[in-house]
Amino acid sequence: MNTSDRNQQAAKLSDLLLSWYDSERRILPWREDPTPYHVWVSEIMLQQTRVDTVIEYYQRFLRELPDVKALAEAEEERLLKLWQGLGYYSRIRNMHKGAIQVMEEYGGEIPGTPKELQKLSGIGEDVAAAISSIAFAYPIPSVDGNLLRVYARMTGYEESIRTTAARKVATAYYEEILDRTRPGDMNQALMDLGAGICLPGGAPLCDTCPAADFCAAREQGRQRELPVRAPKKEKHLEEKTVFLLLGPEGTALRQRPDTGLLAGLWEYPHVPGRLTEEQAARQLRQWGLTPRAWLRQLDARHIFTHIRWEMTGYLVQVEGRGPADWLWADEARRQRLAIPSAFDQFTRALPAEGD
Ligand code: ADE
Repeated sequence: MNTSDRNQQAAKLSDLLLSWYDSERRILPWREDPTPYHVWVSEIMLQQTRVDTVIEYYQRFLRELPDVKALAEAEEERLLKLWQGLGYYSRIRNMHKGAIQVMEEYGGEIPGTPKELQKLSGIGEDVAAAISSIAFAYPIPSVDGNLLRVYARMTGYEESIRTTAARKVATAYYEEILDRTRPGDMNQALMDLGAGICLPGGAPLCDTCPAADFCAAREQGRQRELPVRAPKKEKHLEEKTVFLLLGPEGTALRQRPDTGLLAGLWEYPHVPGRLTEEQAARQLRQWGLTPRAWLRQLDARHIFTHIRWEMTGYLVQVEGRGPADWLWADEARRQRLAIPSAFDQFTRALPAEGD
């Protein structure tokens, strides 16, 4: 195909995608008033979390912190609480730092170019591209996982899409079809296409796809084979014994260190390995506690990006205070602390006050 034919094809595909977006796009709260701050919040939340989950968190977050100044001035504890359940807490910590940078270095105005946006804490290439295209009409593709999958199918890309090389060729492809007057809509059209039609897991809904005539995978009947993904690394298994300790002043909690996984969040005390009740009793005594009643044992698991936790929990009534840095929190206090969802099953097992 010569250059002029290619350009024509690209323009046609671009028109099809935008017309489809105009009639079929998802109604999402951050699309109603796509200010730079709104788009920033939504893109950070959407990085590792599904749209359905994000909607409620997004609305609550904006009710409490309506602008970048409010975010910059918020206490970290409050932010962690607003984020509780979304996971990947470094996202909100970094965004908080980014908001402070905007106030201190940009006079409170969020910058509009991908280059400046990437100088803000927590904003990488995709998010910078998404914010600048959606909120500032800056012409740049935002290549996330959905767009990589769509790219691999559209072009019949045979290599793994989990590589920098794949991202580079996908970006070049999307630059060709990008409508320079509506870059944000184009990116979001492709995100919606990936989320609703060009589905992962081998079963795209090609009959309703606006780009079907441009798709190599469809033409060759290879939708189920593409994209190719290099196998993910095995998740590292960590076994833990979690102590749900009930004392006269509430449940025992301790704060995680300032760095690393779930930094700064609150958790029930736990130790590595799966302890029997006898071993668990010994551990309690080492903490200076005396078990009075073993109420329940329950198992839970949680999967992080690179780690899998397999946990056994003991619900025990105890006497004593335990280590000095523990906090014994009643239900109201506990509900104000950010406890990661990895522990949700244990939190649910705690008796309600008055039981
Ligand atoms: N995923 C990431 N950004 C998105 C957006 N703006 N709309 C829908 N899904 C998204």
